[in-house]
Amino acid sequence: MKQLLTVVSRRTVAQGATELVCRLEQPQVIAPGRFMHLRVGPLLRRPISIARVDHDLITFLFKEIGQGTAELASLRPDDTIDALGPLGNGFPIAAIHPTQRVVLVGGGIGVPPLYETMRQLVARGVTCEAILGFDTATSVFYEAEFQALGKTTVTTVDGTHGIAGFVTAALHPESYDVLLACGPEPMLKSLQQQPIEHKYLSIENRMGCGIGACFACVCQTPTGGYVKTCSDGPVFRAEEVVL
Ligand code: FES
Repeated sequence: MKQLLTVVSRRTVAQGATELVCRLEQPQVIAPGRFMHLRVGPLLRRPISIARVDHDLITFLFKEIGQGTAELASLRPDDTIDALGPLGNGFPIAAIHPTQRVVLVGGGIGVPPLYETMRQLVARGVTCEAILGFDTATSVFYEAEFQALGKTTVTTVDGTHGIAGFVTAALHPESYDVLLACGPEPMLKSLQQQPIEHKYLSIENRMGCGIGACFACVCQTPTGGYVKTCSDGPVFRAEEVVL
C-alpha cells in the first residue's frame, strides 16, 4: 500500500540516530516488526523499521548510514514522504501466551522494532524483559522507554554504559521460553544457538524492491532453498534460516 506520510517531528536520540514521527494518511493497526519502504530520492527507497504506532502517528528510528538516510534525517515538520507499506510479516505476538517468559534482544538499529513489539506484548498481559546492545554510551537510545515497560538491561561493547560486552553477556537462556531478536547478523547468529525453545529473528538484509520482486534480500534455508527477507520475513523462526 502506497501512502503519503507527513512529518510531525524530528529529533536526534543518540549519536547519528534520528527519530522521525509522521502522520499516516489512515490510522491503522500495524503488527510489530513490520517496516516501511520510504522514498529517499527519485529512484531509491530505504526499508525503515517502525519503532512505535499510536493511532495515526508512526515513529521511525534510523541511523544515518548514507545519502538516503541522511536525506530522511534532514526532513522537517510538514514535509511529506512517499511510503510503501507496512511491509513484511512482523513478530507473531498473537502466538505468545502470557505465561511464557519472553526476552527481547536488540542490537543497535535493531532495537527500534522491539520497542513497539514490547509495547504490544505488555498491552496483551505478557511480561517481557529487554536486553539492548550498543557500541558505546553515546549510541544508546530508548533505555528509559523500555524500562517503563519491563526489566531492561543495556550492554555496550566498550563498557562505557551498562554491562560490558555483547548482548549475550546479559542473556540467561534458561530464564526464557521465547526470544524475539533484531540486530546485526553476527548477533543473530549467536542467538540462533541459544537453548531457548522458541526463537524468532528479524533479519536486517540489504533490500532493493522491498516487495519480493528483485531477489536482493535472499537468505538461505537449511534445506538449500532460500527465502526473501522482505516478503517472507523479515521475521523467521531461528531454525528456518542459515545465517
Ligand atoms: Fe526485492 Fe526482497 S528486496 S525481493
